[in-house]
Amino acid sequence: MTTRAVVIGAGHYLPERIVENAEFEKTLDTTDEWIRARSGIERRHFAAEGQTTSDLACRAARNALADAGLEPDDIDAIVLATSTADLTFPSAATMVQAQLGMTRGFAFDVQAVCAGFIYALTNANALIVSGQAKRVLVIGAETFSRIMDWTDRSTCVLFGDGAGAVVLEARNGSGNNADRGILSTDLNSDGRYRDLLYVDGGVSTQSTGFLRMEGKEVFRHAVEKLAATATTALDKIGMTSADIDWVVPHQANIRIIKGTAKKLDLPMEQVIVTVQDHGNTSAASIPLALSVGKQRGQIREGDVLVTEAIGGGLAWGAVVLRW
Ligand code: ACO
Repeated sequence: MTTRAVVIGAGHYLPERIVENAEFEKTLDTTDEWIRARSGIERRHFAAEGQTTSDLACRAARNALADAGLEPDDIDAIVLATSTADLTFPSAATMVQAQLGMTRGFAFDVQAVCAGFIYALTNANALIVSGQAKRVLVIGAETFSRIMDWTDRSTCVLFGDGAGAVVLEARNGSGNNADRGILSTDLNSDGRYRDLLYVDGGVSTQSTGFLRMEGKEVFRHAVEKLAATATTALDKIGMTSADIDWVVPHQANIRIIKGTAKKLDLPMEQVIVTVQDHGNTSAASIPLALSVGKQRGQIREGDVLVTEAIGGGLAWGAVVLRW
């Protein structure tokens, strides 16, 4: 018998304020047409003043718990992926733990920028498979609007705020690909590329800083590395793209999403796409897409999913799971 980490609930939360592309035309030399054509983004949500990453995370977590039919104290651990935690410490995860009224278990943050949810899911899977936790709340939550340089048209039109969460539960499986749950993971990073995508501030520089990105270079790495990591994750369990029901990609740019699907030889009908409505929400983008895909009736129990993401570091990876 094999222990599998099975998704038993999903939920998300998006801040109320929706910002259409046209709003940027008022302050920047840009157009709705350019943003749509180059990125696929039409609108994004921005957190209200005073609304923090842990607030968004908590709402997504409650929705995921409700979807799973669980109470906060049924959870053993919270793993929260973010690069925009409320404070330097404590972790956003412990803040969510307190806000949920959870009085047991443990909670910690994971930081791998846009690949954060893939890293969080992989860590949560390890906690379950090693017997350290039976139920883990895995959250991706971000307020990237706080690290935008509003004078830089090449970055500030691309990002948004939001949160998504899934509940993983330990279930017995047979050890083959027919099992529900996480079937394979693949993580990578290469710090030599740190200058392609970074925030030019941080605690030890005593500033918050702004996001800086060499968009074209990141784009080039993204298409190549995302298809490669998805293929590696599938190879590890003897699967191919023919076995996939859905690709759930990091939602950064529709051209990257289409390029990766093409490399995986999969039609866009098998790709969950939310980038038009959310923009790039970094670590929140995959759990948002999972929750929205489930709500739309696209993702159903038993479906095989490949999720993949790349972000600052560079850090990238993929997870194959049966929903
Ligand atoms: N409006 C109008 N023109 C613009 C804008 C804008 N908002 N932004 C840039 N331009 C201009 C540029 O100045 C440039 O003009 P020039 O030719 O006169 O110099 C022209 O448009 C083309 O710019 P490129 O950067 O070459 O445009 P590109 O087609 O590469 O698209 C984009 C840019 C959307 C950023 C794309 O490169 C991309 O999506 N990159 C990857 C982003 C990504 O996936 N990031 C990873 C995750 S993020 C994370 O980890 C935090």
